[in-house]
Amino acid sequence: MKTLQRTFTIIKPDAVKRNAVGDIIAQFDKHGFRILGMKMLEINKQQAEQFYAVHSSRPFFDSLTDFMSSGPIVVLALEKENAIADLRKLMGATNPANAEEGTIRKKWASSIEHNAIHGSDAEETARFELSFFFAGYELAK
Ligand code: RTP
Ligand code: MG
Repeated sequence: MKTLQRTFTIIKPDAVKRNAVGDIIAQFDKHGFRILGMKMLEINKQQAEQFYAVHSSRPFFDSLTDFMSSGPIVVLALEKENAIADLRKLMGATNPANAEEGTIRKKWASSIEHNAIHGSDAEETARFELSFFFAGYELAK
């Protein structure tokens, strides 16, 4: 039996500003992800620091958390078989210069930081990130 997996994604402030939300959601649909939850919101600097706490000692932490709190974002809970790895593949490489044709970052990212989309990188981070942004009642059955 094939098992469904959940993952978490953010359409980042740069992509929202560029009106890429519709295109990116259409790509989730096209690639077989079911949307379990979705909302648009803004986070403040402190919330961005909590979300990206794993990167707190990295040189780009301050700039990254400024960026992530700079404007509206769209957060989604997604489900499919192999959702975590398949979303990372659809996103493309962190640096758009290395992103493959057909990926979201190839199309919409403008730099290694302003790279359009976030996706969970493992089951444990997906659980943490989903619960950071969604209450249980906000997710479809
Ligand atoms: P994400 O967590 O956002 O899905 O991205 P990722 O796994 O592909 O990359 P990660 O290494 O987790 O980095 C998180 C985000 O930090 C910004 N970044 N800036 N200036 C830099 O060298 C640099 N490196 C990473 C990017 O916005 C990256 O997505
Ligand atoms: Mg990451």
